[in-house]
Amino acid sequence: MENQKKIILTGDRPTGRLHIGHYVGSLKNRVLLQNKGDFDEMYVMIADAQALTDNYDNPGKIRENIIEVALDYLSVGLDPKKITIFVQSQVSALTELTFFYSNLVTLARLKRNPTVKSEITMRGFEESIPVGFLTYPISQTADITAFKANIIPVGIDQLPMIEQAREIVRSFNKIYNKEVLVEPEAVLPTTKEALRLPGIDGNQKMSKSLGNGIYLADDSKTVKEKVMSMYTDPDHIHVTDPGKVEGNTVFTYLDVFATKEDFTNFLREYENLDALKAAYKKGGVGDVLIKKFLYNVLERELTPIREKRKYYESHIDEVYKMLEEGSNKAKEKANKTLEEVKDAMRINYFKDIDLINKHINKYKNHED
Ligand code: TRP
Repeated sequence: MENQKKIILTGDRPTGRLHIGHYVGSLKNRVLLQNKGDFDEMYVMIADAQALTDNYDNPGKIRENIIEVALDYLSVGLDPKKITIFVQSQVSALTELTFFYSNLVTLARLKRNPTVKSEITMRGFEESIPVGFLTYPISQTADITAFKANIIPVGIDQLPMIEQAREIVRSFNKIYNKEVLVEPEAVLPTTKEALRLPGIDGNQKMSKSLGNGIYLADDSKTVKEKVMSMYTDPDHIHVTDPGKVEGNTVFTYLDVFATKEDFTNFLREYENLDALKAAYKKGGVGDVLIKKFLYNVLERELTPIREKRKYYESHIDEVYKMLEEGSNKAKEKANKTLEEVKDAMRINYFKDIDLINKHINKYKNHED
C-alpha cells in the first residue's frame, strides 16, 4: 500500500548560512534519520519560494544563500546518494497545488495561525499583510503533500503548519471523494540536543540579525573569538567566586555538546560535566577554563564539518549539479501527484474520453 510508505520531508528557508543551533536542532537528526535508512523516500528542500514571501524585495539575498545552505547540508553529511535535496521554486507543480488548495482555506483560518501571527508582528506587516506571506502555510502544504510525505521532522514552531496541512488534506480527500493526499505527521525533536541553543550573548534566540551565532562555516579562529566572548555569569568576577550554571551560556552549550571522551581528552581534572558544574558552583573554576574547554569540544565537532565544506567549496559546480538533479527528481514526483490531484478534481478534460463523448452526444442532435 502506497499510504504505508515512509516518506520524510523537511526544509529550510535560505536566508543565511546555518549555525550550530540549526545543527543541534535539526540537521544532526536528519543525518541520523538518513543513515538509519528506515524510510522509502527522504526529501530535504531549500524553501526559496517561501523565503521570498517576506524577502520579495531582496531576491539577491535568497539567490546568494541557496548555495550556502546546500554547502552546509553537504558538510554535515546529508548525502544526495541517499536522499533528494532540491530547490522549491524549481518545482512548479508546488505552485499549482497551492492555487488549488487555497480554495479549501478561509482567510479567518489563515489569520489564526499562531506562528504566522507572531511573524506578522515581527515583520511589522500588521498594517498590510502581503497575500503571499499570509498564505505560505498553504504553499507549505503543497510542499509536503506533493511528495506524499507523512513524516515531517520539525521544530515546535512548525506545528501550526502541519496542523493546517492535515486539515487541507482531509478536506481535499473528502470534497473530491478520493484518498489522494496523505496526512502528514510532525515529528518533534526529543533529545536534550533539541533544546533551542541560545546565542553567545545569552539571548534566547541565535540569529543572524542579532549577530550572536556560531556558524558551521566559521573558521577555528572565529569560533575561538566567539567562545571567548560568551556570556557566562556576570557575578562570577574572580576565579574564587562561586559561579552560576543556570543561564550560563557556556554550560548550556556544554550540556548539548560535551561528551565523556571530551573530558578524557581535554579536561582530565574533571570526570564529567556534573563534576565540572559542582566545582564551578563552589568557586575556584575560572571562565577562561570552561571557555577553552568548550572551544575544544566545539572544534572536535566542527572540524570534520569544516573540512567537508572545504571540499565542496572547491567543487561548487558539482553542488549546483546536485541541486539541479535533485530538483528534477522532485519535479517528477510532484508532477505525478499534481496529475492525481487534477484527476480527483476532474480537471483532466483532455484525457477524459467520457466527458468528450458526452459533449459530442449533447450536440449531436443539433446537427440533424
Ligand atoms: N517553514 C519552514 C521553516 O521556516 C520551512 C519549510 C518550508 C518546511 N516548507 C516546508 C519545513 C515543508 C517542513 C516541511 O523552517
